Amino acid sequence: MKEKIISVINQKGGVGKTTTVINLAAGLSQNNKKILVIDLDPQGNSTTGLGLLNISQSSNSIYEVLSGSKKIDDVISKTKFSNLDIITSNVDLSGLEVETADDGRRAYILKEKLAAYLNDSRGRYDYVLIDCPPSLSLLTVMALVASHSLLVPLQTEFFALEGITQLIKTIDRIKVGLNPNLEIRGILLTMFDKRNRLSSEVELEARNYFKEKVYKNVVPRNVRLSEAPSHGMPVIFYDKNCPGSKSYLNFTKEFLAQEESFVTAA
Ligand SMILES: Nc1ncnc2c1ncn2[C@@H]1O[C@H](COP(=O)(O)OP(=O)(O)OP(=O)(O)O)[C@@H](O)[C@H]1O
Ligand SMILES: [Mg+2]
Repeated sequence: MKEKIISVINQKGGVGKTTTVINLAAGLSQNNKKILVIDLDPQGNSTTGLGLLNISQSSNSIYEVLSGSKKIDDVISKTKFSNLDIITSNVDLSGLEVETADDGRRAYILKEKLAAYLNDSRGRYDYVLIDCPPSLSLLTVMALVASHSLLVPLQTEFFALEGITQLIKTIDRIKVGLNPNLEIRGILLTMFDKRNRLSSEVELEARNYFKEKVYKNVVPRNVRLSEAPSHGMPVIFYDKNCPGSKSYLNFTKEFLAQEESFVTAA
């Protein structure tokens, strides 16, 4: 399996997970990387943000895969952007936790389905990016078990770091049993407001604590980033010169450069 499976995760709501999935996916696809986004949030924001409908009647979503009625191959949708496919989500997904309550191995479902798919479709994707819901529920655990590494968006606001300590505890617990090789690939500071002193304070605190795990590129607060999803497109296609686009394109470069450093280190 050559694909890298990366979850974008933070149990805190509204910190920029979906925005990061959509725009990193777009940035990577522009760099000739083949990307599969998996929308694992019943809210379906990355589904709509990438121009697909998340109508509740759709029977080709991640829900059908996790509940066992379809294979990954059957539910991959193309987006209108090249190199960028998606497995959509819809509100059905919120019932999964209750529906699978009797299944003792349910935490492994996503990992196993993905492995089965990726193993017999060699070379199709370079990265699988999973958009997680804002909770530490079953869906998030499934993502943690299925992933090679994690990207954590951190909103530069008060309380940002408190939530992350809880996330790290959860990650550590998953590492003990379910996925020993899991690691945080990096922390991305989001919604940075240079006029607000708090933003800089949170940045400083995050860099002091997490050191080089924190990406050098920081995503500013930029209204274009919040407008783009309602047009069903990543910001780099919506307004490629806005500060939000520039920051995500630079972040994409930093993300790709990380890969080279892994190769050198190996
Ligand atoms: N850098 C930014 N500047 C301005 N608005 C932003 C920025 N990043 C995200 N937003 C907006 O803030 C809101 C929350 O962002 P997003 O949906 O990416 O967060 P999330 O962590 O995925 O939320 P949830 O936990 O609900 O899934 C959205 O309306 C989004 O468009
Ligand atoms: Mg989201």
